[in-house]
Amino acid sequence: MKGDNALIEKMEVGEKAAEFVKDGMVVGLGTGSTVYYFMSKLGHLVQQGLSIKGVPTSKQTEKLALELGIPLVSLNEIEQIDVAVDGADEIDSELNLIKGGGGALLREKIIANAAKTFIVVADSHKNVDTLGTFPLPVEVVPFGYEMTMKYIRELGGNPKLRQKEATPFLTDNGNYIIDTSFQEIKKPRDLEKNLNLIPGVVDNGLFIDMADTVITIVDNTLVTKIRG
Ligand code: 5RP
Repeated sequence: MKGDNALIEKMEVGEKAAEFVKDGMVVGLGTGSTVYYFMSKLGHLVQQGLSIKGVPTSKQTEKLALELGIPLVSLNEIEQIDVAVDGADEIDSELNLIKGGGGALLREKIIANAAKTFIVVADSHKNVDTLGTFPLPVEVVPFGYEMTMKYIRELGGNPKLRQKEATPFLTDNGNYIIDTSFQEIKKPRDLEKNLNLIPGVVDNGLFIDMADTVITIVDNTLVTKIRG
C-alpha cells in the first residue's frame, strides 16, 4: 500500500512543479521516478505549444526528454538555468537534502547550482527530522577507491561500493558511487565539506542551502515549503 501511495504522491508533486515553468524558460531536468511525472506533464505542455529548453541531469533523463519531445540544450550553451526540478532521497526541516539514490548527484548538483530557482519534488516518505538514515552517495574516481573509502570511514561513515550486476556501478561520468551509512548526520554542512576535501572524492549527495522550494505531501496534503 505504501508503494501505491508513494506513486500517487510522486505524480501529484511532479505535476505541481510543472506550474513553475513558464514560456521561454531554460529548465533543469532532474533524475528519478518523481521527476518522471514532472517531465511527462512538461512533455504534454510542450505538445500544446509551450516553448522551453531542458538541460538533463543524466543520460537516462536525456533519453526520456527526447522520447517526450522536450527540446534540449547543453549547459555550455547557456548563461543560466531559470528553474531546475529534481527529486531527493531525504529532506530535513531546513530543506537540506540527501540526493544521489539514482547515481546522478554530480550533474544534479552542477545543474541545481546553475539554476536561479531550484525546486525539489518529493513524496511524504522523504521528509525526515535528521538526515542520514538513507546511506549518503559519494561519487569517487575509480583510482585508489579503497584508499578513498578508508578516509571516508575516518569521518565516521560505513562506506559500501555500489554494485550493479556484480560489477561496480558506473556514473555517467565514469566514476564509482560509495554509499555511506552515517546513521545520523548531525552537522551536514561540515560533512559535505569534509568529504569533498578527500582526494578522490568528486562530490557527495549532501545538498546544503540549495533547495529554494520543496513540493511534498504532509498529512495527505500537498504543501509547498520555501527556504527561509
Ligand atoms: C538521483 C536522485 C533522485 O532525485 C533521488 O534518488 C530520488 O529519486 P526518486 O524520485 O526516484 O525517489 O537523486 O540521483
